[in-house]
Amino acid sequence: MSGHRNLKEKIPVVILGATGCVGQKLVQLLTNHPWFSIAALCASERSIGKSYGEAVKWLMPTPLPRQYAQMIVQPCEPIDNCSLAFSGLDSLIAKKIETSFAHAGYLVVSNSSCHRMSPDTPLLIGEVNSDHLALVEKQTSKGKIITNPNCSVIGISLALKPLMDQFGLEMVHVVTMQAISGAGYPGVASLDIYDNVIPFIEGEESKVEKEPLKILGTLTPQGIQAADFKISAQCNRVGVTDGHMACVSVKFKVKPSPEKMIKAWRNFSSLPQKLKLPSAPFHPLYYFDEPHYPQPKIHRSMDKEMAVSIGRLRPCSIFDYKFCLLSHNTVRGAAGAALMNAELYLHNQIRSF
Ligand SMILES: NC(=O)c1ccc[n+]([C@@H]2O[C@H](COP(=O)([O-])OP(=O)(O)OC[C@H]3O[C@@H](n4cnc5c(N)ncnc54)[C@H](OP(=O)(O)O)[C@@H]3O)[C@@H](O)[C@H]2O)c1
Repeated sequence: MSGHRNLKEKIPVVILGATGCVGQKLVQLLTNHPWFSIAALCASERSIGKSYGEAVKWLMPTPLPRQYAQMIVQPCEPIDNCSLAFSGLDSLIAKKIETSFAHAGYLVVSNSSCHRMSPDTPLLIGEVNSDHLALVEKQTSKGKIITNPNCSVIGISLALKPLMDQFGLEMVHVVTMQAISGAGYPGVASLDIYDNVIPFIEGEESKVEKEPLKILGTLTPQGIQAADFKISAQCNRVGVTDGHMACVSVKFKVKPSPEKMIKAWRNFSSLPQKLKLPSAPFHPLYYFDEPHYPQPKIHRSMDKEMAVSIGRLRPCSIFDYKFCLLSHNTVRGAAGAALMNAELYLHNQIRSF
């Protein structure tokens, strides 16, 4: 339940890349959003001029609302009377389009990787580094760009945040098992992924090794000072529809007991929870005692598909401890995270309505 009253008039938003995996999730989540309403659905030449229902291969488990099925897909260009864009654009073309929206005065909330490591762009997880939003003041465009981290990085950084704050991190090793929907639509060919594991996702390992250090870094007057621990990552594509798993090994500065780690996870709550933002989960982190949890099929839908599920904490003979975590890649790792970032950025304005 949102702590805010619904607005008399919702804020109109544009979805860039509305026909893709992330774009569809945005359409689904925005259908009943208390603050935002969809003003335009934008995509590539392939889709422009078609009705959205015709252009999209709708993959969501809920029916495509008729009002959106009938909307005509627009080119990715700013429209009048709108100043908020959610981008689910392919990273190869996102930079130019997102920058043009920011120059036109839009707040662009992006899922693509192209602006993530720019020094003046917040790489935002509402519960982890809301103070990094101050970076937008360094942006010179009329509008602003804020970005979601990589879909695996969001779950990993959320699980590491309370551990880093309480015990200090020295080294982290991560092995991911990433869902097929993380590759977009149509993504990986069925003959490649069925009955198989693919031990390569282009560009992914470097994102998992770099992005958490910015996210968990410290805001200084000069910009973000990266966190000072090391991460090594191995990323695999597996035959799961939605839900990225990560097996994480951690070495601490001050080794805690397992009980203290579990308490740190279970007690973790942050600004989006305090503000009761519409897309915020009630609890960002759940720890399960059952030895065979977490599992994508069972836990990816936890708490609005926005929670990270953690389990299997045990000693490690090389690092201090190891554990597993799971998060929904297109919701917590993309569309839901983008909505929550916009809610966080705008909540002061919304409150004053
Ligand atoms: N899938 C995930 O779990 C996930 C998680 C986090 C972040 N991301 C990031 O989010 C972005 C979208 O991912 P996705 O999985 O949704 O990809 P996708 O399914 O391949 O969708 C890509 C979207 O971009 C549009 N597009 C492609 N080329 C275009 C162009 N030249 N001009 C305008 N629009 C164009 C496509 O429109 P058409 O249909 O008209 O071609 C489609 O709407 C990517 O940057 C990805 O890295 C994805």
